[in-house]
Amino acid sequence: MSRINDLINQMTLDEKISMLAGADLWHSVSVSRLGIPQFKMTDGPNGARGAKGSMSTPSVATPVGIALGATWNPRLIEKVGNVLADELKAKGAHILLAPTVNIHRTPIAGRNFECYSEDPFLSGMIASAYIKGIQDNGVGACIKHFIANDQEYERFSISSEVDERTLREIYLEPFRIAIRNSNPWAVMSSYNRVNGVYACEYDHSLLEILKGEWNYDGIVMSDWFGTYDDGVPAGGLDLEMPGPARWMSAEVVKKSLESGTLTEERLNDKVRRLLGVLEKAGLFENPVLQPEKGEDKPEHRAIIREAAQEAIVLLKNNGILPLANVKTIAMIGPYARTAQILGGGSSSVTPHYTVSPFDGVNAPEGKDVLVEAATGAFIYKNLPAPAPETLSTPNGESGLRLSLFAGTEFDGEPLYVETSTRVQHGWFDNSVPNVPQDNFSLRMEGLFTPQESGLHTLALSAVGWCRLYLDEKLVVDHGSDSDMGKQKTAEIELEGGKAYNIKVEYYWKGDPRWRAVALGHQPPHSADMIAEAVELAKRSDVAVIVAGLNGDWESEGFDRVDMKLPGQQDELIRQVVAANPNTIVVLNVGSPVEMPWADDVPAILQLWYNSQEQGNALADVLFGDANPSGKLPTTFPVRLEDNPAYINYPGENGKVRYGEGIFVGYRYYDKKKVEPLFPFGHGLSYTTFEYSNLQINKKSITPNETMEVKVDVTNTGKVTGKEVVQLYVRDVKSTFARPEKELKAFEKVELAPQQTKTITFTLDREAFWYFETTLNAWSVEAGEFEILVGASSRDIRASQMVTIEPVKRAARLHAGLLINTILDDPDGRAVISKHIGGFLLMADMRMAGELTLEQVAHNHPTYVPQELVKKIEEELAKIK
Ligand code: BGC
Repeated sequence: MSRINDLINQMTLDEKISMLAGADLWHSVSVSRLGIPQFKMTDGPNGARGAKGSMSTPSVATPVGIALGATWNPRLIEKVGNVLADELKAKGAHILLAPTVNIHRTPIAGRNFECYSEDPFLSGMIASAYIKGIQDNGVGACIKHFIANDQEYERFSISSEVDERTLREIYLEPFRIAIRNSNPWAVMSSYNRVNGVYACEYDHSLLEILKGEWNYDGIVMSDWFGTYDDGVPAGGLDLEMPGPARWMSAEVVKKSLESGTLTEERLNDKVRRLLGVLEKAGLFENPVLQPEKGEDKPEHRAIIREAAQEAIVLLKNNGILPLANVKTIAMIGPYARTAQILGGGSSSVTPHYTVSPFDGVNAPEGKDVLVEAATGAFIYKNLPAPAPETLSTPNGESGLRLSLFAGTEFDGEPLYVETSTRVQHGWFDNSVPNVPQDNFSLRMEGLFTPQESGLHTLALSAVGWCRLYLDEKLVVDHGSDSDMGKQKTAEIELEGGKAYNIKVEYYWKGDPRWRAVALGHQPPHSADMIAEAVELAKRSDVAVIVAGLNGDWESEGFDRVDMKLPGQQDELIRQVVAANPNTIVVLNVGSPVEMPWADDVPAILQLWYNSQEQGNALADVLFGDANPSGKLPTTFPVRLEDNPAYINYPGENGKVRYGEGIFVGYRYYDKKKVEPLFPFGHGLSYTTFEYSNLQINKKSITPNETMEVKVDVTNTGKVTGKEVVQLYVRDVKSTFARPEKELKAFEKVELAPQQTKTITFTLDREAFWYFETTLNAWSVEAGEFEILVGASSRDIRASQMVTIEPVKRAARLHAGLLINTILDDPDGRAVISKHIGGFLLMADMRMAGELTLEQVAHNHPTYVPQELVKKIEEELAKIK
C-alpha cells in the first residue's frame, strides 16, 4: 500500500488522469516517468482470446457460461478457472473479461449462452468458483456486465426499469455473492441505462452499493465504448475502455474537477484502485509485456472434457441410453459433422481444435459401431467456412496463406503473414496486426480441394470490399459499396478431389471501428436433405440428431426472434423419429428452445456449446462411459409466451420494464403454477438416487444464528453417478410477495451403487432474507419457513419446518452499545445500514462490530463523523 501512496504523491494531475482510460483496445496506460507499467485485458469468458481478434493465437475453448452453470459443480469450475489462468498467461494478459453473470430473464436474450443461470444464487456460486480458479494464480477476473444488462435489443441505450427489491434480490445478487466470496479484480459496467441513467454513471449501483455497501476495492471499467457523456469522471467508473480517452480525457476530467463534481479525493481513489491492479498482477516487479502463445496442454484437455461431460443434461430417457448392443449409428444434423461450440460476439475464440459429435462418436476404441452422417437441415444465415481439410498451400501445409499490406493495393512487403484454416475474420478497433487500421489490404490464397463433385456454393461476406477468384477467374465480386455487410454467393460446378487455386482479396479504407471478411462454402447436397437423413436413420440401429442454434442466431448484439429451432429442424426430428423410433435428440443450443416433438422422442440430451471436447464428451455420455450429471440452470418453458418477461420484452420508447419483478424463471413458473417443459434444476442420470433422513439441528433459530440441515442420499441404481442435491427455502406465510421457493444451497455428490452419503448444509440469515426497501436493508421476517430438499425445483424429496424467532431486542438501542448488538436487531441494523452502509455490514468488518459506534467515530471520523452518530442515536431512540 505504501508504494501506491508514494506513487500517488509523486504523480502530476495529468499523469493521474492519463490512467483513467485505456491506451488502446486491450491495455492500460503506463506512466514511464514513475515506472508505472501497463496491464493487459482479454476476452472472455469461454477462453482467453488474445489481442488480435480472430487472428490471435489459438486458445482453449471451455464450455460456455450456461454449460458451466449446468454442471452445478463449483469445484470443477474452479479447475476450469485454473485453466483460464494458464491461458491468460499464455496470452500475456492480466485480466480476463469474465465471468458474465447477467440473468436469463428472457429465454431469447442473445447472450444467455454466456451467462450462467436464471437464478442469482447459482450464478453467484459458479462465478465465485470461476473467479477463484483464475485469481489463485496471480491473474484477475472482471465480472460483467454491471448491471441489468439482460437483453441485446437496443443494448447501447435501453433503460432497464427495475425496482429496488428486484435489483437487489435478482440482478445484483450474483455480483454480491461473487464479490464477497472471491473479490474479482475488476467489475465491468454495462452498456445500458438503469432507471434512466447509464450504468457507467449510475451512482446507486457503483458508488452506494458496490463501492459503498459492499466495500469493493477493485476497479470498475466500462464496457467497450460504453461511456456516453461528460458525467463519467465524477461517477464510480475508474477506467474507460478502450483507449484513447473520450470522456476521461484530460479536458473533461479537469472540467469535472473545476466544477467540483469530481473531487481530488475521488480521483486519487480511482488511481489507487488502478495501481492496485498492477500490484496484484506483480507488474511492478515484472513490467515487460509478454508475447502471445497458443498452448494446448493434455491437462487442459482433460479438465475441459470433464467439464463438457458434466455440463450435459439428460432431459428425458425411456431407457434407450446409454447405448448398448448398437451396431450402426446415424449422426444427423447441421452440426453433426462440425462442432458448434461458440455463440456470436466478443466471447468467440479460435480453438486449438474441436471434436465434432461425429468424430467423437466414431472414435472410441473397442466400440464396434458403424457411424454415418447426414446433414438433414441447414441453419446458418451466412455460409460457414470451408472444411479445414479442403484448404492447403502449394507446399502442402494446411490452410491458406494470409498476407496483410499497408494501403489498399496489395503491394509492397506484407506486414503480417500467417497460414491458417481460419478464413473468416473480424477486427474491432485497432486489432488488425501491423497495418494502418484505416487503410490496408489482405490476401488469402492457396488451394481449395472440394471433397465432392457437384454444384458448390461459395460466398463472401464483408464489411469492406473484396473479391473471390478460383483459378484466377472472378467468382464473387463483393466490391460495391452497397454490398457492405452482406453475403454474396455464387454457385459453381466443381470436381471432387481436384485442387483449385483460390484467392480472396479484401481491402479497407475508412473508420476502423469494425471490419470483417469471411469466405463461405456449402458443398453439394441432396435436393431433399430430410429424405436423405430419414433414409440413413431407417438403415441404422439408432439415430442421433444434433439439432440446435449457432452464432448466427445466438449472439452478442441481437436477441433471437423466437424460441424455435431454426430451419427445418423440427420437421427433420419428426420425420426421423417416425422412421426410426430409436432416435435421440441432442440439443446443441445455448438457451431454451421449444420442443414440439418432446413427447415423441425416447431421449433428449442437452449438450450446449460445451467446448472443444464436445464430441468426446457426447460420446462418453451416449455410451455410458460418463454418467450424465448436469442439471438445468434455467427453466425450459413450453413456449415463449409462458416466460414472465414476455409481456414487457423488448420494451418501448427506449425502456424495458422489468415488470415481473423478482418473479424471474422458476420463481414465476412456481408462483403462477405454469407447467414448464423442463423445470429449473432438472436432469436425469443413468442411476437413481433416494433421499432420506432429512434432519435439521434446530427447530427454531433467530436470524443471527445458523442451522444445519443434513440429508442422506443413496445411489439405488447399478452404476456410479453424481447427484446435485438442491436445497430451497419457502417462506410459509409472509407479509411480502415471496417466491414459492428459492435456491439457497446445493452440493454435487458422487455415489457408487448402494453407497449413501450424508450431505450437510449450513444455513444462515441469507437463506431466509428478502430486501426490505423501506429500511433499505436485507430483512428476515419471523415465522415458519419450509426447508425443501430435492433433485430439481419440481422434484422435492423431503421437507422440514423451521421457525425463525424474532430477534431478542436489547432493552434500549443507543449508540453506546456494541455495534454487533445493534446489528443483531433488525430495526437497529436497518438504521446502521441506512447511514453507514457497507462499511460495517461487510462480513469481514464483523470485528468492528465489537466496538461501539462512538469508538468507531473516534477512530474513523471520515467514515463515521460525529454528527452522524448523533443522527443514528436519534433514530435508534425512536425504535420501540
Ligand atoms: C462486450 C464485452 C466485451 C467487450 C470487449 C463488448 O462488446 O459487451 O463483454 O468484454 O466488448 O470485447
